[in-house]
Amino acid sequence: MGLPESDHPPEISSPAEGRPTLVPPSAASQQGRRSLGFARSLGWVTLLLLIILAAVLSSYLGSSARKTLIDGQQRFATLLADYLNNQLYLRFTLPAVRNFGRIALSRPEQYYALDQIIQSITNGLQVDGLRIYAHDGTITYSTIPGEPGTQRSLPSVAAAAKAEDPIFDLEAGMPYWQAFFQFPVKANTFRLRTTYPLRIENRLGSSEEKGPLLGVLEFSQDISADIQNAIRFQQLVLVVTLFGCGILFTLLLLFIRRAERALADRMEQEQLLILELHQNEKLAGMGRVVAGIAHEIRNPLGIISSSAELLLKRYAGADSVTTRILQAIYEEARRLSRTVNDFLDYARPKQPRMGAVDIHTLISQALAFLAPDLTGRNIGVIRPQAHIACLVAGDKDLLYRAFYNILINSIQAMEHAGILTISLSFKNNMLEVSFRDTGPGFPAEHLQKVLDPFFTTKDDGTGLGLPIVNGILAVHGGTLTLSNDPAGGACVKVTLPRAEQSG
Ligand SMILES: Nc1ncnc2c1ncn2[C@@H]1O[C@H](COP(=O)(O)OP(=O)(O)OP(=O)(O)O)[C@@H](O)[C@H]1O
Ligand SMILES: [Mg+2]
Repeated sequence: MGLPESDHPPEISSPAEGRPTLVPPSAASQQGRRSLGFARSLGWVTLLLLIILAAVLSSYLGSSARKTLIDGQQRFATLLADYLNNQLYLRFTLPAVRNFGRIALSRPEQYYALDQIIQSITNGLQVDGLRIYAHDGTITYSTIPGEPGTQRSLPSVAAAAKAEDPIFDLEAGMPYWQAFFQFPVKANTFRLRTTYPLRIENRLGSSEEKGPLLGVLEFSQDISADIQNAIRFQQLVLVVTLFGCGILFTLLLLFIRRAERALADRMEQEQLLILELHQNEKLAGMGRVVAGIAHEIRNPLGIISSSAELLLKRYAGADSVTTRILQAIYEEARRLSRTVNDFLDYARPKQPRMGAVDIHTLISQALAFLAPDLTGRNIGVIRPQAHIACLVAGDKDLLYRAFYNILINSIQAMEHAGILTISLSFKNNMLEVSFRDTGPGFPAEHLQKVLDPFFTTKDDGTGLGLPIVNGILAVHGGTLTLSNDPAGGACVKVTLPRAEQSG
């Protein structure tokens, strides 16, 4: 950084004295993690509850559907039994008593007549196993051949003989839960048996008074298909509810997983910040010490270099050894003085004195100052187009220093000839200045480090040029972007806020 030594500002901004207080590492994140763990457990408990709820709901709806279907079948059976009772009385009992004097089903003609009536009524209906019992339990009529004349002592038959209303029995070939897993439910697995007291119709007495008992009617219906429908309905409810629960639970898990990832990222960032904070704290402490020392040695260094310069002039004709020694003292003192000044510029940046600065003029001044270097290295400069007002709000000296550092870097990068292209453009309220050179560009592995203080690839560099530029731009509300041009060479972009146009 060969900028001529500048006056160092008396009003040096002192680095913050306060030490950063460290928050206990991730106390908030720990709490967040616990909350997420709780949410996860809550999620599993909710899933379990939802599954239980689905099972209970499906079982309740299934049993309601089954009950409704069985009720329907019972109503049908009651109607059929009433109708049979009425028809048997009118079409069989009365004619039999009239023609034969009494009912005797052992006589084939009576049995045949009764069979004809029953077959005509039940034909096409899902009814089978129809029997008529005498008072003593003897089967007097049956649709099953061979049964008439035999005895069966069914509790429901004895009960029906005393009852007024039909008695229903559900005969299940397997437990209901087992049928839940059968597909399809086999015919005759579930049967509804109806036992009904056959009575002489009481046409004269009050409607509540029943006539004398003639026998007991028994028949069955296969309700397996109805039960199967109820089971299918129950299965559908279960599947739909479980599917819904599954979707809800998956969404919940996704949400928790995302939150966990976000929390992990936050914790990682927190750790990095804490590390950075520690590092900065250490560096700030060291910086304060070093800045103090640098400040102390700046004045003696200035005296050494000016004394050496004076002696050089005075002993211009002296022997070559003396001149060489004086020259070395002078150059080293100047170099050291430059390094100290750079360091102080970086460590204790000057407060900007804001005003309207014409960047075009500023760059022209810097280029004029660097003209010997440019011609010495055979570097051509493509300047911004015709002069347009490029006023930015800033400190003239500081901005000059920033542009000078960028320009000297480009010149140093193009050792044997090259072209430096400078362009200006406006973007919204910002002025963008870009510097493209035809040097080797920033090595990819250095790009992240070149803004670190003291990073240099040059033998006589301090590595403070770009950090100083960065600091100057930051106090001006501007930015610095370093990249490599696709065509080769480095590209340094600077943005600065434009000055308010007045009058
Ligand atoms: N235009 C450029 N082309 C290629 N590399 C560059 C360019 N400008 C900067 N660099 C790289 O960035 C490093 C840091 O630059 P910086 O200006 O901060 O320090 P320096 O130039 O090395 O030292 P000083 O500025 O004190 O002379 C340089 O050493 C160089 O490797
Ligand atoms: Mg430099």
